[in-house]
Amino acid sequence: MAYSEKVLDHYENPRNVGSFEKGDDSIGTGMVGAPACGDVMKLQIKVGVDGVIEDAKFKTYGCGSAIASSSLITEWVKGKTLDEALAIKNTHIAEELALPPVKIHCSILAEDAIKAAVEDYKKKHDA
Ligand code: FES
Ligand code: FES
Repeated sequence: MAYSEKVLDHYENPRNVGSFEKGDDSIGTGMVGAPACGDVMKLQIKVGVDGVIEDAKFKTYGCGSAIASSSLITEWVKGKTLDEALAIKNTHIAEELALPPVKIHCSILAEDAIKAAVEDYKKKHDA
């Protein structure tokens, strides 16, 4: 199956790979796995005092579409509020990357990961 150009671009030049230092409470971490294939995605957000996401990082052990989905969503959440980040749907990602139906779950992984990261941040901050 051929990957779309946008998937290949993110796969070959992934944005925001890595993780933030532990013990920083401006960080929210989301770790999710895909039951369909066993892949794992870790996504982190760094939130400023104004409640805006300043930075985001990811580590994904998975296919090209999963890596591209996480790379794209880390770009998208920067500059967004937590609520705006929660409003990102996997369908937006799938559309932007032109994912075929068998790869839709890869974009769901990214949506779930950002939701988990926001939840983790909120838990730390009683928000
Ligand atoms: Fe898991 Fe894509 S099936 S890497
Ligand atoms: Fe399973 Fe992409 S995350 S095939």
